[in-house]
Amino acid sequence: MYLTQEKVAVMGAAGAIGSNIVQDLLSTKTACRIAMYDPFAQGLEGAAEEIYHCAYPGAEVSWTADVKEALTGADYVISSGGAPRKEGMTREDLLKGNCEIARGLGEDIKRYAPNAKFVVVIFNPADITGLTTLVYSGLAPGRVSTLAALDSTRLQTKLAQHFGVPQERVTGCRTYGGHGEQMAVFEDGIVVDGVPFAEIMAGKQVNGKSLSAEEWQEVQTHIRQGGARIIKLRGRSSYQSPSHQSVEMLAAFIRGGGYPWPCGAYIPDGEFGHVMMAADVEFTPEGLKPAIPKGSEKDLEALKVSYGHIVKLRDEVIAAGSLPPVSEWPRFNPHLK
Ligand code: 2OP
Repeated sequence: MYLTQEKVAVMGAAGAIGSNIVQDLLSTKTACRIAMYDPFAQGLEGAAEEIYHCAYPGAEVSWTADVKEALTGADYVISSGGAPRKEGMTREDLLKGNCEIARGLGEDIKRYAPNAKFVVVIFNPADITGLTTLVYSGLAPGRVSTLAALDSTRLQTKLAQHFGVPQERVTGCRTYGGHGEQMAVFEDGIVVDGVPFAEIMAGKQVNGKSLSAEEWQEVQTHIRQGGARIIKLRGRSSYQSPSHQSVEMLAAFIRGGGYPWPCGAYIPDGEFGHVMMAADVEFTPEGLKPAIPKGSEKDLEALKVSYGHIVKLRDEVIAAGSLPPVSEWPRFNPHLK
């Protein structure tokens, strides 16, 4: 009845994202054997109690403040176990503290769940915390990913709202590179109610509405500030959308595909090498296989800028000692040669 009977460890499960992940895993019939972990035992017990009160048939949910117990035998790990962003902060403001948490997560996975098949890291700045987790975990690069979809789903949402069309009539929305203010919003491939983006930019109307170059700039700014806007509106960081999208990623991994959004992927070499960034991926049993996104020259220029920003953050974390220099990564993770 559930897609998998294998064990999923949810880290940070006392928090809003983590507890929603557990609920989503069960509600979407993705997984039923779930270990909830959080160092905050009282809140964790409360979150677990609520899950029990939902009375999901066949659910085998445990909770523990012992990381070893949570991770031992875990086939899958989803972690939102970092500090959340508060109003006025950028995702990057969380860099140092959350990278130390990511380092601990990676080391714990290496120790207790070295056979984990798929790990999704959600806490910010996700590109860097995901990379840090990967380096310390020793897992093959395709087995560690980050949630990167929300910028693309926000782009889809905003364009649908602008043109007054159903959200699923807007296709091809893709943002790549970093999940931060410097994300690359790709134009190539967007289609609104059957009309390609280039035609819209040339003045073609959709549903009686046009999109000026200025309005397109505003849409992009809106997307870049999408997470901050949720914090402003709700007084707290997003949690329903990250929970659902990360569960969808896991379901896609188990099914072997069918996830339509970009995912965080480690790029081993080349022009965009040695970072984790939002890219196109293929889901395989061995993990995600990344492909460098295709787009117009302008899109790829934006991707280079975004990549440069990720490299800068990565190097700050290396300088702070939370991540070893790139040349030493193979010592921690032999897959990263
Ligand atoms: C967001 O963009 C939490 O990073 C997440 O809302």
